[in-house]
Amino acid sequence: MMTRREWMRQAAGAAAAAALPTVLTSSGHAASDKEATPGAGSLKAHAAARGLLTGCAVNANLFRDDPAFRQLLAEQYSIVVPENCLKFGYLRPTPDTWNFADADALVSFAEAHSMKVRGHNFVWHEALPNWFASTVNKDNARKFLVDHINTVANRYKGKIHSWDVVNEAIWIKDGRADGLRSSSPWFQMLGPEYLDLAYRTARKADPHALLTYNDYGIEYDTEDDTKKRDAVLRLLRRMKAAGTPIDALGVQSHIHTGDSSFAKGTRELLDGARSLGLQVFITEMDVNDDGVASDDIAVRDQEVAEVYRNYLNAMLRGPEVKAVLTWGATDKNTWLNNGPKFHPKHPTRAERPLPFDADYKPTPAFFAIRTSFDEAKRR
Ligand code: XIL
Repeated sequence: MMTRREWMRQAAGAAAAAALPTVLTSSGHAASDKEATPGAGSLKAHAAARGLLTGCAVNANLFRDDPAFRQLLAEQYSIVVPENCLKFGYLRPTPDTWNFADADALVSFAEAHSMKVRGHNFVWHEALPNWFASTVNKDNARKFLVDHINTVANRYKGKIHSWDVVNEAIWIKDGRADGLRSSSPWFQMLGPEYLDLAYRTARKADPHALLTYNDYGIEYDTEDDTKKRDAVLRLLRRMKAAGTPIDALGVQSHIHTGDSSFAKGTRELLDGARSLGLQVFITEMDVNDDGVASDDIAVRDQEVAEVYRNYLNAMLRGPEVKAVLTWGATDKNTWLNNGPKFHPKHPTRAERPLPFDADYKPTPAFFAIRTSFDEAKRR
C-alpha cells in the first residue's frame, strides 16, 4: 500500500524517467543522481567481465507499457525471467486454451537484444488456475503435468537458458522426514515421484535447457533456514542418485536488512551444490528494508546496499554461481509492494529493495552489486 504522496512521487518520477536518456559512466558512480550507466558501466558489462550473467524478473505489464523500462532491460541485463507470465495459471485460462502472448513477447525481445531467458516455472503449488482443483485428479494428474511441460518446453525449445522445473517443493512445517511439501496438490496426486517425472519430461522436451530446482528460505544461518537447506540438499542428492536429470540449484535469495548471518548458510549451499556437480543461480534476489527504523531514504538505501554486498560477496566465492538475478529491476514494480506484508513494521511505507528506484535511477544497491561483481573471481 502506497501513501498518496508516494504515489504522486512515483507517477512524477515515471514521467521524468520516460523522457530521460539513461547515460551512465564507467567510473562506478552515476555522472549525476539522474543518470545510470549503460555500456561499459552496466551491470551486465561488469558481470560479463567475471563470466557471470545478470538479470531480473520482468513484469509483463511494465514491459508492455513502458519503453523506458524496456530500454533499461536492454542496457543493463544479459538474462531475463518472466515474473508471472510463464506460470501454470497465467498460461492456462481454461484446461484447453493457452495464453502465450506475454511470454512470446518477452522471449522475442530477449532474442532481439541477445539476452538469455530463464523459464519460471513448470511445477509449483501456487499460481494454479481456478479450474485446477475441480479438473485435475489422481487419475489424470500425470498426463496434465507431462502435457504441460511438453507444450511449454517445446514452444520455447532451444531459447531457454534454464528452466525452474520444480519450485519450492520443500516445506518443513508439513512434518515429513524428507521435508517435502505434502500439502502441494502435485504431491497429493502423484507422491514424491512427481519431481523425478517433471525433470525427466523437461530433459526430453528441451535437452539444451539447464534444469533447475528453485527454493527460498535456505540462505541464512538460522535454525529454520538450516533445516530447510538440509532438506533441499538431501532432495537434490536423492534425485542425482536416482539418475534424475538436474543441472542447477536456484537460490531465490529474498533476504532482508538487519541480518547478515549467511556465512555458514551460503557455504553449505555452495559446498552441497559443488559436491553434486550442480551450477548455482541466484534467481530472485531482493532486500526487504521494512525493518529499517529510519524513514530517511539515504539510510534505508545504504542498509539495503550493504546487505547486497555482504550476501553477493559470500555467494560469489563459489565458482559454481553463474548468474545473479533480482526479482524485478525497479522499485516501480516489486512484489514486496504489491501483496500483503507479513508482520510489517512499516505497513504503509513502500519498500526499496532493487537496484533502480521508481524513477529508474540507480540506487546504492546498483553500485553494491557492481562492486561485488568486480570483487568476484572470474568463472
Ligand atoms: C511472485 C510475483 O512476484 C507476484 O507478482 C505474484 O503475485 C506472486 O508470485 N517466489 C517465486 C516467485 O518463485 O514466483 C514469486 O513471484 C515470488 C516468490
